[in-house]
Amino acid sequence: MRFFIDTANIEEIKEIAKWGVLSGVTTNPSLIAKEGKDFKKVVGEICEIVDGDISAEVICTDPEGMIKEGKEIAKWHKNVVIKLPTIPSGLEACKALSKENIKVNMTLCFSVNQALLCASAGAKYVSPFVGRLDDINQDGIMLIKDLATVFKVQNIKTEILSASIRNPLHVIESARAGADVATIPYKVFKQMIQHPLTDKGLEKFLNDWNEAMLKKTAVTA
Ligand code: E4P
Repeated sequence: MRFFIDTANIEEIKEIAKWGVLSGVTTNPSLIAKEGKDFKKVVGEICEIVDGDISAEVICTDPEGMIKEGKEIAKWHKNVVIKLPTIPSGLEACKALSKENIKVNMTLCFSVNQALLCASAGAKYVSPFVGRLDDINQDGIMLIKDLATVFKVQNIKTEILSASIRNPLHVIESARAGADVATIPYKVFKQMIQHPLTDKGLEKFLNDWNEAMLKKTAVTA
């Protein structure tokens, strides 16, 4: 499973990119709005930091508008992936953009049927929202599992991009369920790398080393 970061914050992207673990970035209108910067400028900056698929979402909801906006955004950088909502006009736009070899990520996907339609319309990615399903008392990870099974049986090449990840367990469960990619918030990346035994162990290694060096210096002095 590859890792994308789910943010439009440049500092967060820079920090996690330095770890060497990022294969892409997902943004959405809420994340872009939170940064209070120009959309095109933010996407351009992200593309300079991460060499991988960068999702940028359209605002229009009618098919003609989505196609026009998608084509325009796709010109910004070769790595841009057009994010479209999983609604009928989104499918129509997905088909049209995919035909022109523009990569599409179908977002706000909450069911296997929606995902099958997205795949059929030519989406490169489909984004099931794990956390938002959990929020309404439905099992988000179960959707990833079902999708992985159905896509395998049907030999569907559309990639499962596990989204709306809220905690480190969502990441593990997405990997176990067969997601191709997980898009993870900055905070969750930080939680993933942290372990108290690592910190404790490192502290002891360094203390032992320093004590031994001090003794050695005392003997040779
Ligand atoms: C995916 O691409 C979305 O940006 C994202 O994962 C939404 O997550 P949320 O439910 O935490 O807003």
